[in-house]
Amino acid sequence: MPRRPRFSPTSSAGELATRIERRTARLGVIGLGYVGLPLAVEFGKAGFEVAAIDIDRARVARLRRGRSYVQDVPHADVRTLVRSGRLRPTTDFSVLRKVDTVNICVPTPLSKQRDPDVSYIVAAAKEVARYVHRGMMVVLESTPYPWTT
Ligand SMILES: NC(=O)c1ccc[n+]([C@@H]2O[C@H](COP(=O)([O-])OP(=O)(O)OC[C@H]3O[C@@H](n4cnc5c(N)ncnc54)[C@H](O)[C@@H]3O)[C@@H](O)[C@H]2O)c1
Repeated sequence: MPRRPRFSPTSSAGELATRIERRTARLGVIGLGYVGLPLAVEFGKAGFEVAAIDIDRARVARLRRGRSYVQDVPHADVRTLVRSGRLRPTTDFSVLRKVDTVNICVPTPLSKQRDPDVSYIVAAAKEVARYVHRGMMVVLESTPYPWTT
């Protein structure tokens, strides 16, 4: 695998687009469930280095051993990407310091009133806020209600 340059924040959307085109952008995914894990794996297969964050230690440990727990994601894909360093499962949010983008894929279960419970989004957003930096793109994949962002 080619050595990647030291991380420095992007200064413009154009620079981020160039990093994405060249696959030198470093990506982050928060929440490695049915949405986040396949997304992180597809990013890795496309050639990106992906910081894959979850609060579930057992899930992270499993991924580090090259094992998948999502039916559509083969063990072999996880194993190959983890071994090559393109998929880096972790519970440590500080890796967000060195990503250009982050996709938030945490759950939003429906409450008794049938509203999405956005508390998981709020928790993830607080972690992002600790490490957000110039040029970082934040994408909310979770399903909230209007005006959440
Ligand atoms: N599953 C789908 O087909 C689908 C499709 C479209 C949109 N969505 C939306 O995407 C979101 C995620 O859905 P899912 O099915 O992947 O959920 P999931 O329950 O399968 O996975 C969520 C993951 O997030 C982790 N998590 C919870 N809180 C966290 C936090 N604060 N920080 C880091 N990780 C955390 C959990 O440990 C779990 O691994 C939901 O809002 C859902 O409505 C899901």
